[in-house]
Amino acid sequence: MEMLNIALPKGRLGEKVYSMFEASGFECPSIRENNRKLIFENEAKGVRYFWVKPSDVAIYVERGAADLGVAGKDILLEYAPEVYELMDLHTGNCRMAVAAKDGFTDDVNRPLRVATKFSNIAAAYYAGKGRDIDIIHLNGSIELAPILGLSDVIVDIVETGTTLKENHLRVVDTIVPISARLIANKANFKFKSRRIETLVAALRSLTEEKND
Ligand code: PRP
Repeated sequence: MEMLNIALPKGRLGEKVYSMFEASGFECPSIRENNRKLIFENEAKGVRYFWVKPSDVAIYVERGAADLGVAGKDILLEYAPEVYELMDLHTGNCRMAVAAKDGFTDDVNRPLRVATKFSNIAAAYYAGKGRDIDIIHLNGSIELAPILGLSDVIVDIVETGTTLKENHLRVVDTIVPISARLIANKANFKFKSRRIETLVAALRSLTEEKND
């Protein structure tokens, strides 16, 4: 059988999502073994999974190294990869938000300093508001920036809100809700469309069950 190559985001979300693929009849038991391997194959089922850094999944799919992958909507909005977004997996739910120190007020007479990992999302959001900004691109621990006076606000992912709370920050505005999406390489989708559609149908009935 022709192999379906699937890039999963390494970590808690990836494990959750793998369980969904497993329940859809695309299981690969070796992936559950505790080791540091990155590729797992079930020839009988025609599936090959690999663990990829979450922010890299879309690159593997865009370039066809993976036929399918699971990426957060945040990554798809930020990098706009040339892939098909096949479905919302309704997991990994969180939101992209603007946050600031308690008591923050915006001084509209000067550019707003925005610290973020998501420079394109932040730029588009403030362009839509006609607000001038100065983007400070960071790679992590974004919450530190307003505390140390490096920025006025942050644009970041908020899930439970615990990180903000523990750092005395609060949400000023929600930009967009985020969840995990199933994505496909455009050319490979055509060659493997029947199997991919079988998988999508199984995942759909699974997520609908969950939402009932
Ligand atoms: C993300 C995000 C926040 C945190 C939000 O960080 O950047 O820091 O999760 O979650 P919470 O609302 O449940 O506290 P991540 O763990 O991805 O690490 P990062 O510092 O690399 O962004």
